[in-house]
Amino acid sequence: MNNVISEILQRRRIKRVDVDEKVRGMPIYAADLEFPGLLHGATVRSTRPHARVVSLDLSEALELEGVVAILTASDVQGRNRVPELLEDMPFLAEGVVRYVGEPIAIVVARDRATARRAVELVKVEYEDLPAVFDPLESVEEGAPQVAVEGEDPLRNVFATVRVCGGDVEEGKRASERVVEGEFRIPSQEHLYLEPITVIAVPSGRGVEVLGPFQAPHQDYVQRMVAAATGLPLSRVRVKVTTIGGSFGGKEDVPGVPAAHAAVAALRLGRPVMISYDREEDFISTSKRHEAVVRMELGADGEGKITFMRAKIWLDSGAYATLSPAVLWLAAVMACVPYRIPNVEIEGYAVATNKVPRGAFRGFGNPQVSIPRELLLDELAEVLGMGPEEIRLKNLVSPGDRLCFGQEVGVWGGAKAVLEALLRSERVRNLLAFGRVEQDGKILGVGLSTVAIPIGLGATGRPLERAGAVVELKRDGSLSLRIGSTEMGTGAHTAMVAIASEILGVPPERIEVAQVDTSAVPDSGPTVASRSAAFQGRAVALACERLARRLKELASRLLGAEEVRFEDSMVVSERGYMTIRELAERAYEEGVKVWEEAHVFSPPGLEWDFGSGRGVPYPFYSHAAQLTLVALDPETGEVEVIEVHGAYDVGPVLFPEGAESQVQGGTVMGIGYALMEELVQEDGRILNPNFTDYLIPTAMDVPRRMEITFVEDYPSGLGPPGAKGLGELPFVASSASVACAVARALGKKVRKLPLTPENIWKIKKNF
Ligand code: MOS
Repeated sequence: MNNVISEILQRRRIKRVDVDEKVRGMPIYAADLEFPGLLHGATVRSTRPHARVVSLDLSEALELEGVVAILTASDVQGRNRVPELLEDMPFLAEGVVRYVGEPIAIVVARDRATARRAVELVKVEYEDLPAVFDPLESVEEGAPQVAVEGEDPLRNVFATVRVCGGDVEEGKRASERVVEGEFRIPSQEHLYLEPITVIAVPSGRGVEVLGPFQAPHQDYVQRMVAAATGLPLSRVRVKVTTIGGSFGGKEDVPGVPAAHAAVAALRLGRPVMISYDREEDFISTSKRHEAVVRMELGADGEGKITFMRAKIWLDSGAYATLSPAVLWLAAVMACVPYRIPNVEIEGYAVATNKVPRGAFRGFGNPQVSIPRELLLDELAEVLGMGPEEIRLKNLVSPGDRLCFGQEVGVWGGAKAVLEALLRSERVRNLLAFGRVEQDGKILGVGLSTVAIPIGLGATGRPLERAGAVVELKRDGSLSLRIGSTEMGTGAHTAMVAIASEILGVPPERIEVAQVDTSAVPDSGPTVASRSAAFQGRAVALACERLARRLKELASRLLGAEEVRFEDSMVVSERGYMTIRELAERAYEEGVKVWEEAHVFSPPGLEWDFGSGRGVPYPFYSHAAQLTLVALDPETGEVEVIEVHGAYDVGPVLFPEGAESQVQGGTVMGIGYALMEELVQEDGRILNPNFTDYLIPTAMDVPRRMEITFVEDYPSGLGPPGAKGLGELPFVASSASVACAVARALGKKVRKLPLTPENIWKIKKNF
């Protein structure tokens, strides 16, 4: 490994760059911002899951004192289609509504309360159309037509994907035991603490939009605003305000209200803010796809997996949005990180009359990893093996092949990460007892071994770019301009750590600029756990280029062959100077103090949709996680007592941040597996608030969490060699919790979340 990596690993503790303003409660969020002449928009939404809009009566709303305008589809200056994968979704409904909460019109008023009151006065007359809410019913013959596009026989199917390898029938014949099941994996609401707020400001010949955008650049927000307003991308400036949590929920989604606000701001020539409250955000924005997964898994007498067969139906809601991409990831990740010679996986992204499902930490991965890990435990049990034993026999190492043909590279820490976990004596002891009754409770242990792909892969090649500009100031401080956003993960702090390591400037003298499409390089969407690998690589390259030139100058000034940067100093065998002095000299002598670097999708990626084979992603991060739960057999309540995890993410850039990512992801996975339940009836969400939709609190955090990082399986892309982490602990945790509850219950688990009620049903064989 390059010495930059080892230096990064030895770095002293570094403080998060975004923490002070947050703990001090500074007015940093979009909803805090003020503009002269600011108007407020509120959204008229469909109250029907599927209906023709017969008439829209705006007269009473327009008469309300303080209402400035009401905009409908015909006011959209550009094209009334959101530019995503299928371009099926309108910015504002035209004639037909397909889910409860679909935007129909935007009321603009002098204040938010008036705008909201006026929304209630808009009279929409509907003619109901037949609707469908279950993905399996939606693909049946004679089901109501939901999807906008769909002249072909698979009319409610947004996308179909297959992944193939070997010969499944042959694999089945070679099996000693086969297990199977049909799984219902649930939806999940992001519940970021900051509901979506956007502001559009007419500016010069274009428009500026501000908001908590996870993906501000040309792929999502900027592109959507340009499409709706008819402006060229270059006249749409997107500025990212402090993001109060996201988890995938502020990826493409806030581009729609941003487009609404921009359309209104340009019509009216004044700034317009649209700010959702919790309930509006909950009912009208994306969530995790609920899925039906049928999976079959076989092994020979030694516990070697012989085949996997799976069918995946992702309930995608009424418009395609990102679902084809989520589906592809789900199908590809079903077999990763195992060596499975024979595989046949088919996936469908299916339309239903529900709010569109979209990106959520894991992006299709938990929907396949949870069933696979549950089945693997069942397979181990019928073979008389331990859960760790069967996994050790099948996890990949460098040189192995994944089921779709990709060779495992230097990044292949899948088996190593389980071995690292098993080095803990406590882990070995827990696995040895597996399940035990104690004080009226049943203790159960669950193990998961999972992977996440890093980056956008073969199908997202054009989006994989990342850029960085680094500039040394005259006082020796450093300005870093990067396109990746900070949504609370610690990514910006990791970038500061890289720059500090390479240039010797202390972290507190490095400033990351606000992400602004007119001021920083385009780094594509901040998604897919890709910041450390791609943005990190761009920062490292830019800093190394600048370091090279500055070292030349320092060598000359100090009369030394070799110089190095260290703690604000330039050090050599001949003497030393401060970086501040060096910066001053660079400016005096006209030495360029800027550098930039851009990275793109690595070579070698390809995916053949026909054969279902290829190299979908450049590398993967891996985790092995063991969870100990206590089940109360009387009430069905489950408590997570201990979590032990090992995480192969490449070199860790910001240790404290990485650890907190694991803690947060683990707790989020506990919530998904045990308590989070979206209650829906005829396409309506009945519990759109924190009171009725339960998420974990501090009381649900396990008493003991042991976290180990395995750092010697790098990306292979060069320094810093980091892979990625964000989504990994969520996938690991939700699967290991499900496995632990199944173990405690001694029953097959086919449906999540494992609430007391659902546990009762499992016990009664419902
Ligand atoms: Mo994500 S779920 O890749 O924002």
